[in-house]
Formats: sequence, C-alpha cells, structure tokens
Amino acid sequence: MIPLNPINTFLLPVVAAIFFSATTAQAGGIVNVYSARKEALIKPLLDDFTVATGIQVNLITGKADALLKRLQVEGSATPADLFITVDAGRLHRAKESGMLKPVSIPVLEQRIPEELRDSEGYWYGLTLRARPIIYAKERVNPDELSTYEALVDAQWKGRLCLRSSQSVYNQSLVAATIDAIGPEASQQWMQGMVNNLAKAPSGGDTDQLKALAAGVCDVTIANTYYLGRLINSSKPADKALASKLSVFWPNQSGAGAVGRGAHFNVSGAGFTKYGKHPEQAQALLEYLASGPAQAWYADINNEYPVVQGVAISPALEGFGRYKMDSIALEILGQNNRQAVQLMDRAGWK
Ligand SMILES: [Fe+2]
Repeated sequence: MIPLNPINTFLLPVVAAIFFSATTAQAGGIVNVYSARKEALIKPLLDDFTVATGIQVNLITGKADALLKRLQVEGSATPADLFITVDAGRLHRAKESGMLKPVSIPVLEQRIPEELRDSEGYWYGLTLRARPIIYAKERVNPDELSTYEALVDAQWKGRLCLRSSQSVYNQSLVAATIDAIGPEASQQWMQGMVNNLAKAPSGGDTDQLKALAAGVCDVTIANTYYLGRLINSSKPADKALASKLSVFWPNQSGAGAVGRGAHFNVSGAGFTKYGKHPEQAQALLEYLASGPAQAWYADINNEYPVVQGVAISPALEGFGRYKMDSIALEILGQNNRQAVQLMDRAGWK
C-alpha cells in the first residue's frame, strides 16, 4: 500500500533538479504543450521543469475537444509537441484522430503500469482518478452497499443521482463495465439505475455531491477529487457539505467481475504527430513521471500517482484502502462508441 507522507511542494525544484542532473542531458530548447488541464494544475510543474533543464515550455490551455480540433486544423504546421488531456476515452479519441504519434519511452514503460498507457505508445497516463460510489452518511449504512451493479436494487428506488451520459467519465465507466459483464448485462444495469434515479441526470460531479448533501438523493458515482476539493476548501460551507459524505469502494471482493475493483481512469499525454521538439517533449514526459512531480501533480488535484510507491495526500488517505479495476484503460476508448449506444438504449439521459 502507498505510505502516507505529506507533500512538500517547496522541495520540488531541488528534488527535480537532482533527478534531472542524474538522468538527462538536455540543454535548453523549447517544448510546446496543448493542455486540456487547467493552468493551475500543471503550470508550477512546467516552471520547475524549466528550472531543472533549461527547456522553455509554452503552454496553451483549452477545452479538450477544441484543442484536438485545433491540432487537426493546424496539421503539419502545428507548433504543439505534446497533447495533455483527461480520461482514457478522450486520449483514445486523440489517437483515433490521427493527431498523435506512437513513441516508445523506456523510462515511462518501466515506471507507468502497462494498463495505464496505450499499448502502442500513443499516450501515457500521468495521474490516476477514482470513480467509486459516494453516499450520504446520515441516510446510508455502508453495509448496504456492495457493487456498482447492486445500485439497481429496489432499496435505492428514488435515492440515486447520476451525472448525464454525455460525461466522458460515465461513458468510460460504462465502457469498463461492458468489458467486465458484457453489453447485455451492462444495458440492464443501466436501465435498473435509471429506474432508481431521484431526478433526471444534470450537472457535473460536484452537483451530484451537493444533491447528496441537500438530501435530494442518497448515493451517486463520482470522481473522488471533487470530494477532496470540498474537504480541502477554504470555505466552511464546502467543508460542511463534504462532512456529510463518504466514499464507498465498490466491487472489492468476490470472484470474477464482482470483485474486479473500483473504476479508475487517468489524465495523460501523447506526442503530437507533427511535433518538432521530440527530445524536449520526451524530457518533459519523463519529468512528469518522476517521483516528486508525480506526488505534486496528483496532490494538487487530489488524484493518485500512476507511479507506485509515491506518497498520496492526506485527503486521499482518508478515503481508505481500495482495490482498483486493473482493466487496460485503452479498452475504455475502444468500447466508447458501444457505451454511448447502450446508455442511449437504457434511457440514461
Ligand atoms: Fe473532472
């Protein structure tokens, strides 16, 4: 299990500099990054990378689909070397668009578990996000919960909130479920959950958490960093809201699909097809997979590191121990179309 260690961001530049003097020989140059992550979630890391290597990073942030479109429009004239986004479903979409290039990077292949990167080297996972069940402590006894599949039980009638099927997070959850229990059982599962909804799907993950706290519903499925963000918020109202909620890790025991583990996903990055600074791009990716960068990058958004043995934040430690589904995440992308189709058929709006 991952040991608990408070993250000290002040140590980051020093540690990274040591990492780099020992492992890389880059001297300057530039690397251009298109990132669908918010600037605050990555800029300090990029600045540190520049201090450690002398490589200048030009960062352009935007919405994932808009940045991918931009890559396509720019074609071979694009300045972008790296494309960073969240969700294996979206990383796969980028791969399918033809705008990424497969690259074999031994350091990353050694540090990042196989299931958290594309098998052909089109993208590498850089942070892990969990999507378990979250429940209202006042009205739910965790002993009543077991698996994602059991959310169809009659006891949850009118007590479930779900984000819309438009969310790639839910599409990826369904894509993983198709792999675990097959398409037919997945459709029945979704129909059962739709039957149990307290209200029509709307809003983001945080809105589902707010609905739980407000008593609109009792259980939902959401990424844990949204709860982590409320726990760590400076606003008392957010903290009060978070104190009403708890994480339940589903599918932790039992044979086969039942005990497959909780659903996980990644944020990640791939080389662009027409990038002009491959050495600098590789140095940046290797840096993002280094221990201190992993700790900071995961911690700042309450995510988990992809590299084993790296410390996680106290908020995440508070969510308890878990077994994660070890499905190869590229399957989430491969099953995306079928997932969207089945969600539609099941009436998941
Ligand atoms: Fe998110």
